[in-house]
Amino acid sequence: MTVQNKQKPSLSTKHLLRITDLTQEEIKGLIEDAIVLKREQQKGLFHHHLQGKTLGMIFEKSSTRTRVSFEVGMKQLGGDALFLSSRDIQLERGETIADTAKVLSRYVDGLMIRTFAHETIEEFAKHSDVPVINGLTDPHHPTQVLADLMTIYEKKGKLRGLKLCYIGDGNNNMTHSLLEGAALCGIEMTLASPGGYEPNPAILKNAQKVAAQQGTSIEMYDHPTEAIKDADIVVTDVWASMGEEGEAEARKSIFSAFQVNQELTSYAKPDYLFLHCLPAHRGEEVTADVIDGKHSVVFDEAENRLHAQKALMKALMGV
Ligand code: CP
Ligand code: NVA
Repeated sequence: MTVQNKQKPSLSTKHLLRITDLTQEEIKGLIEDAIVLKREQQKGLFHHHLQGKTLGMIFEKSSTRTRVSFEVGMKQLGGDALFLSSRDIQLERGETIADTAKVLSRYVDGLMIRTFAHETIEEFAKHSDVPVINGLTDPHHPTQVLADLMTIYEKKGKLRGLKLCYIGDGNNNMTHSLLEGAALCGIEMTLASPGGYEPNPAILKNAQKVAAQQGTSIEMYDHPTEAIKDADIVVTDVWASMGEEGEAEARKSIFSAFQVNQELTSYAKPDYLFLHCLPAHRGEEVTADVIDGKHSVVFDEAENRLHAQKALMKALMGV
């Protein structure tokens, strides 16, 4: 069944390149809209907010969740999505980002891009007439964190006042977007990462400043047991991200004391939630008994990519 629903949150930003492009109020509005869209979908109601619209999706890295959730999300909103592998378009043969962005803007109504350097997506956004959504860059993964915040809100009924602990590689896209998202939403955040794998200092410093303005804090700890104490939410991510495959073996020993396992999570609150953006490596950053255990919400988190992104696309691309 399709329903006409004109209501949509309005955003102050044209593009979503990092989670700080949104205000705290906008994040809340998107989460609330995503929850409504999710409930309606469960009842078989689909709103064609993006009828006749097309999302172009450029992938320079692999993806399961991001590709499928954006593509299915567009179809459920009455629109369409085009998968554009960077290997198959002229970008790979040297056509400039500026020309690609200008040309694609003449065909599609929005662009989702997964790439390496953040500067690449900034350049796209600079030359694009249509909204550009970051589907992951080396330093940021805002749509994942939007889904994570939605999942936390659904399960805990609030964001402000919770304590989120991140264990593992501090210098990757998930950590940076979590830092920015947690700070904006008044979530206390603690981190433990091996020396040399701490977050980007400028991103950390700015997130700490925003956290202080929100009446909360972000603290780095040397030992995971100190960081995880009384945490409501425990998060980790792969030890070697896409593009870092050559370091994966060396990182296994560097990160071994930063594994999320039963022993470590015994220091978290008894009702803690475990989140992981996936894909996961059981036996490395997390043990199977934790990720497949009763505290884990990783599959709800993955599902919420669909609902959160539908709310986002509706807000950025809707009329
Ligand atoms: N979490 C996430 O972005 O997954 P994919 O790499 O499968 O898109
Ligand atoms: N940090 C991971 C996230 C994957 C969704 C990576 O960039 O590979």
